[in-house]
Amino acid sequence: MKKKIALVTGSSRGIGKAIAGELIQENFIVYITGRNRNDLELTAEELGSNVRMIQGDFTDDAIIQTSIQSIIIAEKSLDLVVANLGSGTSTSGHDVEIQEYKRVFDVNFFSSVSLAHASAKVMQNSGGNIIFIASIAGCEASGLL
Ligand SMILES: NC(=O)c1ccc[n+]([C@@H]2O[C@H](COP(=O)([O-])OP(=O)(O)OC[C@H]3O[C@@H](n4cnc5c(N)ncnc54)[C@H](OP(=O)(O)O)[C@@H]3O)[C@@H](O)[C@H]2O)c1
Repeated sequence: MKKKIALVTGSSRGIGKAIAGELIQENFIVYITGRNRNDLELTAEELGSNVRMIQGDFTDDAIIQTSIQSIIIAEKSLDLVVANLGSGTSTSGHDVEIQEYKRVFDVNFFSSVSLAHASAKVMQNSGGNIIFIASIAGCEASGLL
């Protein structure tokens, strides 16, 4: 049976890595992402031969688009995208700088919008799926992290 192709962002460790591992068990080839090359290589080695690595900052539109195109060139299809990249780590209080708001929105929101935008274009005729991983931290204040 032909393997399906998945991209899981933010997956060299944490929840993304666990999702990648589960998808491999379900007969997917999984593209994992992260900025740190060493972490990616260690995770790829751990997860086995059905893992492919993309190193880069997935808050960067150009990297997102290039990555999607590279997957299509290599695999001819993309069946599943998991927009997992995100972080609840920030600062709190009335004096948070506007740059910090922008950084948090880039990591948690615009990275997913950009990923969905780029992915939908290549998946629209093939019936692929996009899953967004969110957090309770997006709904309620949880104190200083
Ligand atoms: N942990 C929780 O308790 C929890 C609870 C509810 C929801 N969530 C959600 O689950 C998702 C994953 O959380 P997590 O705690 O598993 O994250 P994590 O442990 O901090 O993992 C972050 C992963 O994302 C990569 N990454 C970070 N910034 C990146 C960037 N700009 N471009 C590409 N890769 C990047 C990291 O590698 P590099 O650092 O090498 O880039 C790493 O592989 C998030 O959306 C989070 O909101 C988490």
